[in-house]
Amino acid sequence: MMDARRSAMSRIISVWCLSMVTLVLAAAGDDGQQLNDCSFSMKKQILTCERIALKDSNIGNTIGTATQMLVIRRSANLTITPGFHSPPFRLLTSYHLTECPDLQVSPFSFQQLPNLKYIKIIDNTYTTVASNTFYGLVNLEVLSLNNNSINTIETDAFNGLSSLETLELTHNNFKTVSAHVFASLHNLRSLFLYHNNIEVLEDDCLFGLSNLNVLDLTYNRITRIKTAVFDAAPVLTQLYLSFNQIETVEGDFTSEKLEFLYLQNNKLRNVTDTLFNSLVNLVDVDLSRNKITSFAPDAFINLTRLNNLNYKDNNLERPVHLQFADKPPLITS
Ligand SMILES: *[C@@H]1O[C@H](CO)[C@@H](O)[C@H](O)[C@H]1NC(C)=O
Ligand SMILES: *[C@@H]1O[C@H](CO)[C@@H](O)[C@H](O)[C@H]1NC(C)=O
Ligand SMILES: *[C@@H]1O[C@H](CO)[C@@H](O)[C@H](O)[C@H]1NC(C)=O
Ligand SMILES: *[C@@H]1O[C@H](CO)[C@@H](O)[C@H](O)[C@H]1NC(C)=O
Repeated sequence: MMDARRSAMSRIISVWCLSMVTLVLAAAGDDGQQLNDCSFSMKKQILTCERIALKDSNIGNTIGTATQMLVIRRSANLTITPGFHSPPFRLLTSYHLTECPDLQVSPFSFQQLPNLKYIKIIDNTYTTVASNTFYGLVNLEVLSLNNNSINTIETDAFNGLSSLETLELTHNNFKTVSAHVFASLHNLRSLFLYHNNIEVLEDDCLFGLSNLNVLDLTYNRITRIKTAVFDAAPVLTQLYLSFNQIETVEGDFTSEKLEFLYLQNNKLRNVTDTLFNSLVNLVDVDLSRNKITSFAPDAFINLTRLNNLNYKDNNLERPVHLQFADKPPLITS
């Protein structure tokens, strides 16, 4: 009772704090400075530009010396080139490009902005990520390329992003995750690829991802998985493969660090005794809404950390009698 009330109170306080922050931001937003289609806010820390057509021009003379964040939006037919960011501005840490139809970004475009930490290129039409587009961004931590209709990711597109921790490529249109496409992302922790049209995971598509913890491939069109692709990601702890059409799993899952495996809403047919038994750290596995007809009785016998097993809504031919090493997990069937 007390706890519930206290948490309600703290929620009210945090909402109030948020609206105060919003007010302060709004007040600080008016620096009275209007450039053609660009305006500063937050004491010139943020520069926002709209409806610009800078095909052969640059933004280097517009930007303020205190500017930390650049927002470009609603500008059609924009081609970002290396010269666009000239002269170099070194304070900039955040770059947003959004709602720009027919956006193009040339190779080496961001080389003049070595201190960028966050780039969001989202909600545009931006179909091709060219080789070396982000080269030189050795401090970049987060790259979001969501919702752009990307259908082509050239070899070496992510070359040089040695500090990148999070890469988001959701809601795009590419069909294949190509071999070596993430090869230079040694520091990557999270890779979000959900809502694409991915059909094929090429061998070695995860090559180089030696620090990857989270891989999300939900809502794609994958029909076949070779478990060997995950060997390149030895510290993977969360694997999301739900809402695909996976019918065939070639090989057994062997990721020793894996804790969460989500395979619901696929077309798996049976579960052998070796498919999951090497996943010695598995805590949670969801196999619901597949077409599983049978489980080997010892399919989970070596999984001493298993807490949750869900196999609801399958095509089981007979009652399931599973054996477990220690206490049985919570089963949803
Ligand atoms: C963008 O370019 C296309 C073709 O080059 C042209 O038809 C269209 O009018 C341009 N859009 C704008 C807003 O400039
Ligand atoms: C994608 O971007 C378009 C604008 O380009 C927007 O209308 C749409 O809501 C966005 N979709 C998602 C899933 O964010
Ligand atoms: C189950 O999988 C094993 C190994 O892949 C295969 O030999 C067997 O035919 C499968 N059984 C059914 C009913 O699909
Ligand atoms: C379980 O682990 C033991 C010891 O490592 C191994 O011999 C056995 O084959 C495993 N069982 C299954 C079903 O994988």
